[in-house]
Amino acid sequence: MLEIVDKVHDESRQGEAVAPLQGDTRTYLKKFYIESYGCQMNFNDSEIVASILNKEGFGATRNAEEADLVLLNTCSIREKAEQTVRKRLTEFKKTKRDRPGFLVGVLGCMAERLKAKFLEEEKLVDLVVGPDAYRSLPALIEEAETGQKAINVLLSREETYGDISPVRLNSNGVTAFVSIMRGCNNMCAFCVVPFTRGRERSRDPHSILEEATDLFESGYREVTLLGQNVDSYYFVDEAAGETITFATLLEKVAAINPLLRVRFSTSHPKDITDDVLFAMARHENICNYIHLPVQSGSNRILQLMNRTYTREWYMKKVDRIREILPGCGLSTDVITGFCTETEEDHADTLAMMEYAHYDLAYMFAYSERPGTLAARRYQDDVPEAVKKQRLAEVVALHRRHTLESMQQDVGKTFKVLIEGISKRSENDLFGRNDQNKVVVFPRGNHRKGEYVTVKVEDCTAGTLLGQVVEGR
Ligand code: SAH
Ligand code: SF4
Ligand code: F3S
Repeated sequence: MLEIVDKVHDESRQGEAVAPLQGDTRTYLKKFYIESYGCQMNFNDSEIVASILNKEGFGATRNAEEADLVLLNTCSIREKAEQTVRKRLTEFKKTKRDRPGFLVGVLGCMAERLKAKFLEEEKLVDLVVGPDAYRSLPALIEEAETGQKAINVLLSREETYGDISPVRLNSNGVTAFVSIMRGCNNMCAFCVVPFTRGRERSRDPHSILEEATDLFESGYREVTLLGQNVDSYYFVDEAAGETITFATLLEKVAAINPLLRVRFSTSHPKDITDDVLFAMARHENICNYIHLPVQSGSNRILQLMNRTYTREWYMKKVDRIREILPGCGLSTDVITGFCTETEEDHADTLAMMEYAHYDLAYMFAYSERPGTLAARRYQDDVPEAVKKQRLAEVVALHRRHTLESMQQDVGKTFKVLIEGISKRSENDLFGRNDQNKVVVFPRGNHRKGEYVTVKVEDCTAGTLLGQVVEGR
């Protein structure tokens, strides 16, 4: 479970293919196959794409070989993420040669970053569609079917796909992602996202609440509200004369039903408010877990990164979280070897990790992205070997922290939402506690979607192991 080292949250799920649609008995004339890379928002976008394609008569398949249309929903966050997609594309060459009419499309952040250049560089690609242009997919597919190359990479200031009900792909039927906003207005110097996803916009809260309510009524028991920076969620509901902030939105979602758990990601240290922390404290079903990416522990580097907070500010946020939400799970993202980073700066990052004692961290060596502030202004001057060495040190320290954090939970009892059968054994179930830790326990008569109280008896580096002491 502990997937660290140079992976963004969901890159561990890289390249997942979709399952045929559950409960969908319609027959489709054509089939599409989609693979998703990158962050949770990209995975959620694939579910929006699936919904749009279903309406056009395309059914999902898990098998690329039998598809009429193959789509890769791509990520540009680090060079490696792009290389993975390039490599994957070459694997479709043969099918393309053997099957006339077989279409290959690139969606998402790489499509947006490279635009028409992609069509020149990758002759095999028929469609290039940016993250705000998925509504035009049917028209683009039609165009591509005539043998032309089709492209739409326009970014929008309004598009939130709020009215499109995502078709849940590869779902466990218990947990689901709900995007609450798109884009990002921050300009972290290392980051490509503002360029690939455009301006920040918040989705209409009514459509968010409707989607979460539908999920609950279909048996789901956990929603994760997604945005690059959820704390800047802001919607003026003129009809109701109400301004909705992230804290108010959280409370509204939590009020749908006490049995529906609410999570969210990502919080920006400069923006997370006490109101959000108090909302979490007030509602038992808002999970006590915060992903608060620090990126670096050095004030000089934080400034170069344009993160707009200092280490002292960040530490105060950690203190506040611990004060208002004792026992709250805390995770982070760290970048090693950002431009000009010295051993002293690196030591500050290690010290910050000691201070925050994260339960989970995603750690990366800096990868320069064309067009970003850092690429334009600074030299990528930390040698690759040094970046990797520092990454190894950060990972080693984190391994120690995470093991300590797991060990501290032995003997405690937690409410766990069951997500399914454990990968290790058919006789065990797994779920998560409030703090987002995976808990494995004997199956008994329990089923996924139920809440049980588990007493932890043992642990590994990534999993708590226990017994059910009480279940509904
Ligand atoms: N919106 C989130 C992060 C999105 S990207 C936030 O503001 O925290 C996820 C993580 O990828 C970032 O937190 C950062 O740690 C990492 N990342 C982004 N750009 C990177 C780059 N150029 N090189 C290495 N890691 C990067
Ligand atoms: Fe990138 Fe910064 Fe926006 Fe996160 S907040 S998506 S790191 S620019
Ligand atoms: Fe990657 Fe784009 Fe997400 S660059 S991390 S898929 S917003």
